[in-house]
Amino acid sequence: GDSSGTCGKPPLPVAMGKTGFSLILALALVTLSISSEKKCTLSGAWQNDLGSKMTISAMNEAGQFSGLYLTAVSGAAKPILVSPLNGSQHVDNLEQPTFGFTVKWSFSDSTTVFVGQCFVDDQGEQTLQTMWLLRDKAKSVDDNWNATTVGTNIFTRIKGQNVGESVRSDL
Ligand code: BTN
Repeated sequence: GDSSGTCGKPPLPVAMGKTGFSLILALALVTLSISSEKKCTLSGAWQNDLGSKMTISAMNEAGQFSGLYLTAVSGAAKPILVSPLNGSQHVDNLEQPTFGFTVKWSFSDSTTVFVGQCFVDDQGEQTLQTMWLLRDKAKSVDDNWNATTVGTNIFTRIKGQNVGESVRSDL
């Protein structure tokens, strides 16, 4: 006479619950690790193919960020100084987001805008593939025709250095 009809075994929902929980937990952990591997975020310290360095802050909910840029090269007569940058990135695609930012040079009358996209390669290395427009200050509108230069830069993450150090101008 087993009135419950379970013959002394644990009730089925309990046994299934444990297995189900473990499976869901494992799946969640795997999903989490994959998504963080594939995510490409702009925050952190970067250097480009010219040797320029920049640090980018964490972005806000709208995808806006700020940072500091230390260029390795300059067409200006004055000594190079760390300059502020401001930009935004798409937050709807965190795997390969496009972005743009402006550097307002502290030591020259020029302004540079960068546009680009963040990619992660098969080794998990992140790169920022960018194009830029550098606007020089023309003396008059007659000189406007050659006041803008275009180019490309590829940024990779700076490793083994803290974010503050990477844009210190005495490095
Ligand atoms: C100036 O020359 O007036 C300011 C410095 C400009 C540096 C340019 S911006 C595009 C390119 N990428 C760099 O990292 N530096 C140069």
